[in-house]
Amino acid sequence: VVDIGKLYAQTGMFTYDPGFTSTASCESEITYIDGDEGVLLYRGYPIDQLAEHGDHLETCYLLLYGQLPTAAQKKDFDHRITRHTMVHEQMARFFQGLRRDAHPMAIMVASVGALSAFYHDSTDISDPRQRMIASFRLIAKMPTLAAMAYKYSIGQPFVYPKNELGYAENFLRMCYAVPCEEYKINPIFARALDRIFILHADHEQNASTSTVRLAGSSGANPFACIAAGVACLWGPAHGGANEAALKMLTEIGTVENIPKFIARAKDKNDPFRLMGFGHRVYKNYDPRAKIMQQTCHEVLGQLGMKDDPLLDVAVELERIALSDEYFIEKKLYPNIDFYSGITLKAMGFPVSMFTVLFAVARVSGWIAQWKEMIEDPGQKIGRPRQLYIGSPKRDYVPIAERV
Ligand code: ACO
Repeated sequence: VVDIGKLYAQTGMFTYDPGFTSTASCESEITYIDGDEGVLLYRGYPIDQLAEHGDHLETCYLLLYGQLPTAAQKKDFDHRITRHTMVHEQMARFFQGLRRDAHPMAIMVASVGALSAFYHDSTDISDPRQRMIASFRLIAKMPTLAAMAYKYSIGQPFVYPKNELGYAENFLRMCYAVPCEEYKINPIFARALDRIFILHADHEQNASTSTVRLAGSSGANPFACIAAGVACLWGPAHGGANEAALKMLTEIGTVENIPKFIARAKDKNDPFRLMGFGHRVYKNYDPRAKIMQQTCHEVLGQLGMKDDPLLDVAVELERIALSDEYFIEKKLYPNIDFYSGITLKAMGFPVSMFTVLFAVARVSGWIAQWKEMIEDPGQKIGRPRQLYIGSPKRDYVPIAERV
């Protein structure tokens, strides 16, 4: 590892690294990825152990505080988050200023940013207590805002949080309950959603997390920084990939069509790629994909959809691709997005909500990364360099003389 900052101070040399493929922008103790071995650890704990034995709020605690909570700490943390799930009643009016058919991610960018206008009392980033309250508020209010965004986009009344419920249960209820009808939470769905939240909680310096850190490096308040992260996540190359994977599986349609699509993915002259395959960092099986596959089977099994055509196509596509020379040589394995779209669709979420759910999960990682950066005594404003390739110096020409 070369400290380029020191090298620059000594020699004036700097690196050119589009896409930051080989540049670390920070030191971090939060998440470790070994892409060659397919390892993902949060604070040292393997993702599969957390997803199997823990719950999402425990993961949030771990990301924020660096340790798993004791039973008493967990109870206290759950209570604190629960106490902050409501949003200010004026937020409902804020929503009404948006178009009825707005995309839920557009509503999320706007409403998360608007939190800084409602919660001034936790925007002083120099105060550790305010930093913590802002973190609790964000983790607690994201599901409420996300459910409100969904309800607003389908023209149904908002459902208030019910605080005796768990994090994922509460979210399901806020999304699916309707007035005058009893809503029964499906425990398999709640567990699956909680797992999806754990799997997506952090992934070190991906585009949206780097955006949160960059925004935070200027001293911007945490709500504004997280809104920047939500905006970045919205892009199809980042949070939108599960939607693309689901679309592709639907387009393939039947198992018989798979070879045609595999051939297209291998054809250099065809821009088509197998969506949900490959990863910038994982050159081995994405460890989250294994858990996602199992969760997908559980949800579809619960619904009696074991023979769902999309799942059949997914399983067969994975089998064929994993034994194909092209995919082996290029180290292309299914990533988390390969199975998450099918699972969310089966649970009743429309495609427009997929990235919103990702944002609800990722807020814990974003805020933990933001806090770590603010609390780093060596923290500097992020200011990447550039390689200028424009015109050399030239003199201004008055408009009448321009040809
Ligand atoms: N299908 C077919 N070929 C592929 C695929 C794919 N899904 N992914 C990569 N390749 C090939 C490329 O054509 C390239 O071939 P070449 O060396 O002959 O030119 C080679 O593998 C390397 O591809 P790059 O794009 O250079 O690899 P990079 O690490 O930059 O890309 C990425 C990773 C963007 C995820 C890519 O694999 C991809 O586009 N996958 C499909 C989209 C997807 O699933 N995205 C979700 C990522 S996970 C997440 O964001 C949560």
